[in-house]
Amino acid sequence: MRRKLITGNWKMNGGLASNAALLSAVKSELGQPSCQVAVCAPAPYLAQCQQLLSGTQVAWGAQDVSAHDAGAYTGEVSAAMVKDFDCAYVIVGHSERRAYHGESDETVGRKAARAIAAGLIPIACVGETLAEREAGQTEQVVQRQLDAVLAQLAGNDLAKLVVAYEPVWAIGTGKTATPQMAQDVHAFLRGRIAARDAQAASGIQILYGGSMKPDNAAELLAMSDIDGGLIGGAALKATDFLAIVRAAA
Ligand code: 13P
Repeated sequence: MRRKLITGNWKMNGGLASNAALLSAVKSELGQPSCQVAVCAPAPYLAQCQQLLSGTQVAWGAQDVSAHDAGAYTGEVSAAMVKDFDCAYVIVGHSERRAYHGESDETVGRKAARAIAAGLIPIACVGETLAEREAGQTEQVVQRQLDAVLAQLAGNDLAKLVVAYEPVWAIGTGKTATPQMAQDVHAFLRGRIAARDAQAASGIQILYGGSMKPDNAAELLAMSDIDGGLIGGAALKATDFLAIVRAAA
């Protein structure tokens, strides 16, 4: 049985004081969750996460990582640097990075490989735009995005990957994929991974992201191939985030 994973993606939100308040509320109310829990914070706050979350049930991670190892890449943060702060996870290929920073499928694959080489678990995001869905291209798009990641990973590294299906039209819009729509894409993605490695495919966590909230989380998380959530807006409010964690139980 795959354990569920609920991960907050804070995006470019927060500050020292508000992060401390949020994490303190999450820690004090969390109890012993039956699912895995993590938050992905902006890079400057990874040290704060390490300080406040070490030894707790909440793991932490970054939101992006360089496709390069080290060197003259001003402004970039390497996987090894992220790992220095004991991060467990790093998101790669979020649609906001693809859209606003021109990240190609191939770049995302290289980032995933760098993350694994540094001992991090990449959460590789895939997802179609509204226009692509309406044109009937959903499977074609997510397959292309996933294959570019798989192409960069050695066979025995597949098991170290988390995939997140985030339909672009559902992110921050309040529109959610129906549980069945999401399930169909998740099953398709698992099938693609299974074509490469059936055993790894059965163990890989595939998260759903896109307006997951306390009121829709349980029905999404009940689907057989939905192994957790990548939560944006609702991860910024402790009560909402905790409600989603409980829905994953
Ligand atoms: P929202 O939950 O705000 O729609 O964001 C989803 C997301 O992009 C998580 O990575």
